[in-house]
Amino acid sequence: MKLWGGRFTKREDEIMEKFNTSLPVDHRLYYEDITGSIAHVSMLVKCELLTESEGKLLISGLESILKDIESGVLQVEGQYEDIHSFVEMNLTQRIGETGKKLHTARSRNDQVAVDMRLYAKNKAREVMSALQQLIDSLNQKAADNNVIMPGYTHLQRAQVVTFSHHLGAYVQMFSRDKKRIANAIEILDENPLGCGALAGTTHNINREITTELLGFSKPVDNFLDGVSDRDYMLELMSGFSITMMHMSRLSEELILWSSQEFKFIEMDDAYSTGSSIMPQKKNPDAAELIRGKTGRVYGSLFSLLTTLKGLPLTYNKDMQEDKEQFFDSLDTVLDCLEIMAKMIDTLHVKEENMKAAIKAGFLNATEVADYLVSKGTAFRDAHEIVGKIIIYCEEHKKAIEDLTIEELAKFSGNIADDIYEYIDYENILNKGNKKLIKQITR
Ligand code: ARG
Repeated sequence: MKLWGGRFTKREDEIMEKFNTSLPVDHRLYYEDITGSIAHVSMLVKCELLTESEGKLLISGLESILKDIESGVLQVEGQYEDIHSFVEMNLTQRIGETGKKLHTARSRNDQVAVDMRLYAKNKAREVMSALQQLIDSLNQKAADNNVIMPGYTHLQRAQVVTFSHHLGAYVQMFSRDKKRIANAIEILDENPLGCGALAGTTHNINREITTELLGFSKPVDNFLDGVSDRDYMLELMSGFSITMMHMSRLSEELILWSSQEFKFIEMDDAYSTGSSIMPQKKNPDAAELIRGKTGRVYGSLFSLLTTLKGLPLTYNKDMQEDKEQFFDSLDTVLDCLEIMAKMIDTLHVKEENMKAAIKAGFLNATEVADYLVSKGTAFRDAHEIVGKIIIYCEEHKKAIEDLTIEELAKFSGNIADDIYEYIDYENILNKGNKKLIKQITR
């Protein structure tokens, strides 16, 4: 069933019909499509392009379609070209000839543009609250586990930090992600309805009315741009990609930390799976899937960037491809945010193992050098001296703090008894700007 049979003498080939249809993908825009149409009709009535009674009939018909879809009475499926055709044809079936007036002063080009902006705006807000939930989970886990752990560079034990400070780094990342999404929402918040196919309409419509009814901040400034702009999807998908990258890094850490090599945490059974052959195994599948799905979200972004790159103004059917990519990346990021928050909520921290790793890693070596500097040794000389102490410790299988004062004094005349207090791990975290590491970022 078509909205455009008039100038055609031949039927569309079946395979072409199947190739062209977007209903299996854009059916999820039914709410935005109907809401957009209701606003459009209200505006047409106010501008006297439809009579009051026509407006009432159209709006009640549209509302009944929405109600039936939401209650499951009406399935959004069938031989329709897209969601716009589905709604309009259903409307005409329900209310008769007046239904054919719905599309006055409108094109599917500005219609799909307004549907997608409304949908993207709503869903982007959902992503923001899912991000906030993950931030809350991280903050809670940090507050409950303000314990010392090794910090790493090059995945080599480097200096002592706290588990809370480590999780706090992710809180910062996800907080920036929220700002990125909020910024994209602000930019997209313009109403393209009224742009028509590309050049507006000869009817005396009022774009301010639909702008207000649909809750946009203003109408778009340029018709050609209004129907062909997909930047907001790219911006949101870039935001989703960055969030996925952050979650992928966190996943990688969870995977490492739960390995037998680290044993820093234990993942809850609810988010792990077993092996069909090796009975001892507990695999961090949820974290691995998040890491894996990151590629898929990047892929959607690149797919849409590539689709758009050669398009002349204005609307081209290529743009129909935007939805599948946008929806997939949106669904993926929402799923992953929810699973990640649950994984964080339920993971168990093995404090003793983190402490043991600190001791074995000479994580106070930098502080030994700082100690020598405080006694007048030049930093470069101090660095050299500590290097020698480390070799000695490795040979004697001892931590620095386990050496006697006689052993330590052999390396520098500047070392005295007060060194032990200086290089104690808890004390280290209370000194200088490291106090920040001790603080829980809430
Ligand atoms: N299904 C189409 C899309 O998603 C709707 C717009 C159709 N416009 C047109 N001129 N054929 O892009």
